[in-house]
Amino acid sequence: MAFNKKLLNDRNSYGWGLISIHWIMALAIIGLYPLGLYIDSLTYYDPEYRTVPHWHKSIGILVLMLLTIRIIWRTGNKPPAELPQPAILTLATKAVHNLLYILMLGVLVSGYMISTADGRPIAVFNWFEIPALPALIDNQEDVAGAIHYWIATALVSLAALHALAALKHHFIDKDETLKRIFGIK
Ligand code: HEM
Ligand code: HEM
Repeated sequence: MAFNKKLLNDRNSYGWGLISIHWIMALAIIGLYPLGLYIDSLTYYDPEYRTVPHWHKSIGILVLMLLTIRIIWRTGNKPPAELPQPAILTLATKAVHNLLYILMLGVLVSGYMISTADGRPIAVFNWFEIPALPALIDNQEDVAGAIHYWIATALVSLAALHALAALKHHFIDKDETLKRIFGIK
């Protein structure tokens, strides 16, 4: 078993640049979901009220930055060619990947809109601050909060389906799909 040592994707394989971004973002998103639900269960008087939302927002903003890098990267360095499978599944794979991008963007933007609704900037681990834009709609915190919850739930559900599809490729079709995203040649 050998690992891919190239930074960039080529026609047959993912490079370690996008592989690292895929897995860092996947772990962060899967972790942010229960952390978000936990925030919702906290009251103002819980000591965690001062820390956990801060971590959730800070990690979320870092994920938003990675998403921006990932989208720019993808425009210049395309993923490898699809492995052969029925045309309908190739279409479904593309649709799921595009929808995952839309949901990632949606959850991150709605999170930003909740956190900046009162005009305060977001402190990312107290390293730097992301400024607030003026509120766009009435009652922005509540509306963005509801949208955030539903998009986050759709995102982790679709990601679970996406992971199951990857396992099907590995164990049933016995192709290279899953190995490629781990950089195994
Ligand atoms: C929140 C979690 C996840 C998200 C948002 C996500 C998102 C994506 C996206 C957008 C792609 C398309 C390639 C790209 O543009 O980078 C991709 C590729 C891939 N992901 Fe995930 N992923 C997640 C978790 C997982 C998990 C848990 C697995 C496996 C168990 C997995 C397996 C794969 C595989 C095998 C590919 C390559 C597909 C191909 O070559 O057609 N992903 N992922
Ligand atoms: C992939 C990224 C993210 C995921 C999966 C996620 C997930 C969640 C979930 C599931 C909740 C609980 C919602 C509820 O029960 O009503 C939540 C709450 C929250 N999230 Fe996120 N989140 C993400 C990114 C962000 C970002 C980037 C920010 C802000 C910068 C943010 C700010 C918040 C805030 C302030 C709450 C509390 C909202 C409330 O109590 O109404 N999130 N998040």
